Amino acid sequence: MIRVTPVPGDLSDQRADLTVHFQFEGEPYPATLADPALRKSLAEIARLDGFEGKQDSALLWHSNGRPAARFLVMGLGRRKNLSREVLHRASAVAGSRSVGLRARRVGLVLPPLPKDKHFEEAAGLAAGGFLHGLYRFDKYLSAPRNGAGPEEILVGAGEGKLKRIRSVLEEVQEIDRVSRVARDLISEHPGYLHPEKMAEVAVREARKSSVKCRLMSEPEMKRLGMGGMLGVSRGSEHPAVMIHLSHVPRGAKKKPRVVLVGKGVTFDTGGISLKQPEGMEAMKADMSGAAAVLGTMLALPALGIGVEVHGLLMMVENMPDGRAIRPGDVLRMANGKTVEIKSTDAEGRLILADGLSWACATLKPDFLIDLATLTGACMVALGPGCTGVMSNNDRLVRRILDSAEEAGERMWQLPLFPEYREHIRSDVADIKNSGIRYGGAITAGLFLQEFVQPDVAWAHLDIAGPAYFESAYGYAPKGATGHGIRTLIRFLRSLS
Ligand code: BES
Ligand code: MN
Ligand code: ZN
Repeated sequence: MIRVTPVPGDLSDQRADLTVHFQFEGEPYPATLADPALRKSLAEIARLDGFEGKQDSALLWHSNGRPAARFLVMGLGRRKNLSREVLHRASAVAGSRSVGLRARRVGLVLPPLPKDKHFEEAAGLAAGGFLHGLYRFDKYLSAPRNGAGPEEILVGAGEGKLKRIRSVLEEVQEIDRVSRVARDLISEHPGYLHPEKMAEVAVREARKSSVKCRLMSEPEMKRLGMGGMLGVSRGSEHPAVMIHLSHVPRGAKKKPRVVLVGKGVTFDTGGISLKQPEGMEAMKADMSGAAAVLGTMLALPALGIGVEVHGLLMMVENMPDGRAIRPGDVLRMANGKTVEIKSTDAEGRLILADGLSWACATLKPDFLIDLATLTGACMVALGPGCTGVMSNNDRLVRRILDSAEEAGERMWQLPLFPEYREHIRSDVADIKNSGIRYGGAITAGLFLQEFVQPDVAWAHLDIAGPAYFESAYGYAPKGATGHGIRTLIRFLRSLS
């Protein structure tokens, strides 16, 4: 585990391999650099390099000064445009670069902000972003590519309240811990991580984190009529599993009960409606929703979240096979509704249908939220960095979007226009599982809505874009991001 230590002052009395500073555009160069001589030389270098503190720009400077031999100055853009996402992203880029720079001890000097509560919040975002950017999945490399990466991060706490900052940083570290669990699972190769392997890991991690974990296997699904889970899984060698995690703190009775449902397709070939081979390997990440729900659940006890939360991980593998479901088949889902299969590649909504139905019938949630890498159409609509939020309840949407903003994750609402329901009308069953190409994220959302009891406040998060980056994107190295965890934790805290 990487140590994150708050240090009073501006770090000028510390020794580090690298210190990271932040720079607003159009403001004097590193105001956070204590030594006036250093500040002057750095301003000189910045001018020569044309570094102005623009968003997504950075300046690396070697010197022989204190506190470090190297300075990395991250541009934040104009102060008036500063958002949490900008600060988080700049820190994450710094984290990512620090690995290449083989820095072992890194100092983080917070940007000049008014010394009120923003300072602690900024400390959390900066440290959290930095840790986020450090992540590498190198389990299968004979030797790590850039050495071991930082082992200690010093956070310059200025004159801020050290105790408050320490508790913010502890929380950031817990979130980083569970995000790593999720990101490792998403990154795992799909030959290793099948549904039962995911269950094994969930049981182990749940025990470590004091979260309850129960597994539901195929015979029980049969009894409950989970035609979606059993149908999608039929072409696979590996049986389907539903993993039910729960966090029931004392005194939660009077507070809302939340159920999180995650899409857990350990590999999505498309089934008989087989996908193009190009890029198919990225479909190992089609269980990112389940991984984010697991990560979130694991953090709840340590963070002292006071509401009752359940996590349902709907684990299957979508394979073509002689036994696999076909286009034209009709399946009956756990709430009794029938579905005509138009495409076996629209499998996520089939397994979620069972999860949502079961959650409504047995857990009676006040808030029901599903996370799924559900549609390519959502990426077309919002680009690769943003989650699409669809819901039957505007107040829930507001809460989720506010939490996302605070966490520095990009989410945006998409509508559930009732007239688009027409696109998934079937002649032979209650509904079919895919419509026309246009508005594909929305018809997927409308499909899911059929399996949610109307009096339950429900939101669907299509994380197809930000869950996994096929090439390095902004802050993240390419690969798994753990997107959703930070937003969900904020959301749950806002209820408790
Ligand atoms: N897992 C995919 C969606 C996806 C695509 C996630 C790209 C991440 C990146 C999902 O199961 C799928 O195949 N969706 C189809 C739906 C269509 C058949 C209605 C899609 O988006 O093409
Ligand atoms: Mn699919
Ligand atoms: Zn899928």
